Amino acid sequence: MAEQEEGSAIRGPKRIVVGVGGGIAAYKSCAIVRAFTEAGHHVRVIPTESALEFVGRATFEALSGNPVHTGVFTDVPQVPHVRLGQDAELVVIAPATADLMARAVAGRADDLLTATLLTARCPVVFAPAMHTEMWEHPATVANVTMLRQRGSIVIEPASGRLTGKDTGAGRLPEPDEIVALASMLLERSDALPRDLEGRRVVVSAGGTREPLDPVRFLGNRSSGKQGYAIARLAVQRGAEVTLIAGATAELADPAAVDVVHVRTAEQMREAVMKHAPGADAVIMSAAVADFRPATVATSKIKKGADEPDSIPLIRNDDILAGLVQARRDGTIDPSTAIVGFAAETGDADGSVLDHARAKLARKGCDLLVVNAVGDGKAFEVDHNDGWLLGADGAESAIEPGSKSLMASRVLDALSALLTQD
Ligand code: CTP
Repeated sequence: MAEQEEGSAIRGPKRIVVGVGGGIAAYKSCAIVRAFTEAGHHVRVIPTESALEFVGRATFEALSGNPVHTGVFTDVPQVPHVRLGQDAELVVIAPATADLMARAVAGRADDLLTATLLTARCPVVFAPAMHTEMWEHPATVANVTMLRQRGSIVIEPASGRLTGKDTGAGRLPEPDEIVALASMLLERSDALPRDLEGRRVVVSAGGTREPLDPVRFLGNRSSGKQGYAIARLAVQRGAEVTLIAGATAELADPAAVDVVHVRTAEQMREAVMKHAPGADAVIMSAAVADFRPATVATSKIKKGADEPDSIPLIRNDDILAGLVQARRDGTIDPSTAIVGFAAETGDADGSVLDHARAKLARKGCDLLVVNAVGDGKAFEVDHNDGWLLGADGAESAIEPGSKSLMASRVLDALSALLTQD
């Protein structure tokens, strides 16, 4: 499970309420409860009566290590209908059914969960799950809008297989994804504003693989986690997101993101260039190979007399520089914001920041996200820290934390850039 993401800035165990609505996806809430308890948090599960039709009370009690009630008349001296909400530092409702959200909007307090929602003053996350028709119904749309206006976070549901043969928007995002988003709110409670509503964002992520023969390739250690975190968060901040995904550590497609899978640098370039026109921003977080083998053998290269002494390489196009050029040429909109990433190490010629400043100038992008690499930093791990450099000379440090937290800082800077236009 992701997460309390390694290196996150969450200090100490937190008091988390997991509310469970009565839908088939209730079984996925077990993984969410488990992830929070394994991260050391104190978890109280509050199901609705109908949630217990799907998952038994004993399961929630065993996973959370705490008693589980649905009504307000159990344990009355402890005043749980007030205390649980008041004490909570995070409330996550998964699945949030149409009915549960309607009751929350109406301010009902007819069971322990809705009463808790009225007393909670911490971040509240609703992770909806329902049939597409229910999700798209004007009543639900209005309820979601109202919950957001009141400061709750309503996660965009995933598309895909629903109960039975139905497919469409309304699926509960994977537990890992919900836990990662919710955990980030413990690091930074204001990390999920709807400030990218109406924006189109293209994000590239992962590494590229440059074939050498039918079985071998040149690759790199990029896991794709940082770019996936950006894509996942941008969608939850209201953007329409296309993720151009190279090779990753077998990451699941993020909910509600349009994912285009590619392998080579050339395929990535084509996909980025295809989707960039009309985008408000392109974020190049992919680790694109600078070189590829000059020739690709059609059959496996064997040991023996014909084995090569060396492998000649040729340069791949620089996609980021190509985007900047396309913006100058007018092939893509002049207002498109272009964000680059730089993985740097300091050396005799200069510090990480010296190299990064030179790269920003060389690449001509609007924003450069800088990671210090080496010593096991940045690659394949769940945490990151670095700097944000703006073409206008602005420089800020990004505090150590999870990749979700870093993604939120990148999107803050992007959002500020887009509103300047
Ligand atoms: N990048 C790209 N196309 C390439 C290589 C890199 O678009 N062929 C992008 C990356 O996605 C990243 C940025 O350029 O946003 C910087 O990548 P990095 O590998 O740090 O820089 P390089 O241009 O390869 O510079 P160098 O290897 O000389 O440090």
